[in-house]
Amino acid sequence: MTGETSAAAVPVPASVFETREADAAPSLFDFRVVPLASIADEAHVDAIGDGLVAGGLPVVEVALRGEHGLGAVRRLAARGDLLVGAGTVLSVDQAREAIEAGAQFIVTPGLDPDVVRFVQQEGLPIVPGVLTPSEVQTAIGLGLTRLKLFPAGVFGGLTVLSAYADVYRSVKFMPSGGIKLANLAEHLAHPAVFAASGSWITGVAGRGAAAVAEAARSAGAVANGGDAG
Ligand code: 3PG
Repeated sequence: MTGETSAAAVPVPASVFETREADAAPSLFDFRVVPLASIADEAHVDAIGDGLVAGGLPVVEVALRGEHGLGAVRRLAARGDLLVGAGTVLSVDQAREAIEAGAQFIVTPGLDPDVVRFVQQEGLPIVPGVLTPSEVQTAIGLGLTRLKLFPAGVFGGLTVLSAYADVYRSVKFMPSGGIKLANLAEHLAHPAVFAASGSWITGVAGRGAAAVAEAARSAGAVANGGDAG
């Protein structure tokens, strides 16, 4: 692993990645922390993009909530210096719109097989939300091995993960909902976890790009086994 810029021209410090080959384009599954952005104010979009890139965590799941979601996907994807996906995707139509806007991965809060199949046909990664064993098994039946555990904090995320880890050995989870810097390390340390996602990093966008960058750096430090700095 090197810190060299990839062929896809997305400058990413090696510290963010665990698995990416030096010459491979970044993928969602290279990141151990996935910042979620729910855009309350259009003016925050550039602060989020600038801050995540400066903070060495150039990936964002833009929630399609409210009037600014799709436009934010489009604007952030057009930058070309960070990996942009869409979250809170509730239908095939929304998935299609998000992909047309430039989304490179899709995250959903629940498991909708139609949405999963559509995104798979588009050739993009999809990480659907699951909570119950039945949902996990349905997702496995759809060929998925990476799932979002949502809302993890409400349903005893780490305990559930431990119960699932033994049973569903082909699957890894991205807990989301209630993850913060303070509990990030314990979630990432769980062997059934491939990444953790949450809104705490972009949630400071109202204070500008530097605040987002600082939050991203702290998360990256934890993800790489250090303290938050
Ligand atoms: C969500 O979909 O809202 C995410 O899980 C983020 O949850 P958080 O705001 O608790 O980080």
